Amino acid sequence: MNPRPRRRLVEIDPWGSNQVQDYARLRDQFGIAEFGVDQWGVFDEPHDLFRRGVVFGHRDFERIRDAVKNHDPWGVMTGLMPSGMMHLGHKMVMEQCIAHQQHGADLHIAVADYEAVATRGFTLEKARELALDQYVHNYLALGLSPDNAEVYFQTKRNRVRDLADQFARKVNWSQMQSLYGFGGNTSLSHIMAPIIQAADILHPQAHDMGGARPIVVPVGVDQDPHIRLTRDIAQAHRVYSIKRQDDGVGIYVKPDENVSGHLDRAENVLGQLGFSDWKRNDGYKELKIGGARGRDVRAIDLALAIAEQKKRGLGLLRPAATFHRFMTGFGGGKMSSSQPETSAFLTEEPKAAEKKLMRSVTGGKATREEQERDGADPSQCPVYELYLYHLAEDDGHLQQVHDECTGGERLCGGCKKEAAGLLVSFLKGHQEKRDEVEHLIPEIVRED
Ligand code: TRP
Ligand code: SF4
Repeated sequence: MNPRPRRRLVEIDPWGSNQVQDYARLRDQFGIAEFGVDQWGVFDEPHDLFRRGVVFGHRDFERIRDAVKNHDPWGVMTGLMPSGMMHLGHKMVMEQCIAHQQHGADLHIAVADYEAVATRGFTLEKARELALDQYVHNYLALGLSPDNAEVYFQTKRNRVRDLADQFARKVNWSQMQSLYGFGGNTSLSHIMAPIIQAADILHPQAHDMGGARPIVVPVGVDQDPHIRLTRDIAQAHRVYSIKRQDDGVGIYVKPDENVSGHLDRAENVLGQLGFSDWKRNDGYKELKIGGARGRDVRAIDLALAIAEQKKRGLGLLRPAATFHRFMTGFGGGKMSSSQPETSAFLTEEPKAAEKKLMRSVTGGKATREEQERDGADPSQCPVYELYLYHLAEDDGHLQQVHDECTGGERLCGGCKKEAAGLLVSFLKGHQEKRDEVEHLIPEIVRED
């Protein structure tokens, strides 16, 4: 495993529900890079969630950018925790996945039934039922296509379980403690859940599933510990490590056996990539290439991973990730299935969702006079967030809501009514689509 400073992640607990407010601070604190036009600009029609800053951070998205630019294969991986009904917060991730699918990625969706049983005490049957009726069915209605996409169950896919076993050999208890704050009373199956998730994320790079290639995992920032664990695990099982240095790029062989064979192979790969100028040092198990750049590092890393797979190595690239903001619930905290009053669910009666929205907290002022005089604060308003993430018809509309709100021309009652109208028509349309796509469920679900 890579050495890294140990810190306890109390603020981002993937199983907790602490609300995270300051995304920029989080990004800096955890070394997440900013996700901006340099990243999403690679797509022809970048999704609103990108352009509007809802996706605010990433790790290693450059790998995806390279693949899109070079028309190389790349994939998207996500998983769903079948622990309740699907709400608007869950919708964002799937929309991003669908956008990537339309941009040429293959898409793999894990039903986290192992995790639901291990961490929430669900039965497998209940988890399956919720996964299909709530998540998969809704995903299809949102536009997920069964072409080039699959849904599978963690407990049914033996290769995921086998890979997790293999990974578990190189993960130790102090790592798990420092990443997750696990204590003495954590059950062993809970401890295994993140290892299984790492196998979810990495197994699509198996040679018979497309081989080593960039994979992006769109997640909420609470899932970052999983991403870091998975990236460490991928790297721990590599033959080579590639490091960018002041004077170029260094390639290092990690195993102590057959160093010269590994260096020969790396020299071959470099030659095929068109490099001609490097220094070999068998004693340091090293090849040094002068003048190589970031893009070269990624290309070399990918080519070496593919070469490792040819020799029956795992050869898994570290996954990329994007991080999106949480959806604020109607009560001002995180939108959560376990607090139905705070959430709008995709399959609920539209009128019921409307009622909850009408009772939402807002960024409004205490009195009408004050709001007309000073304006309100959309940055503190879950209703504004609804427009931003889901309801605004276009950027002009969003801008209008924003400016009228801050300018005091818009009052919360009317603003909520407008949002409620849009939400109701979205839900109605969505629920009709569900009927149209129901027959696609068996087409996308794999039983192994
Ligand atoms: N842990 C995720 C959650 O709580 C579910 C999940 C399982 C997942 N496997 C995954 C997410 C792979 C992304 C990629 O929602
Ligand atoms: Fe929120 Fe609308 Fe009120 Fe502004 S006017 S604070 S956006 S509800």
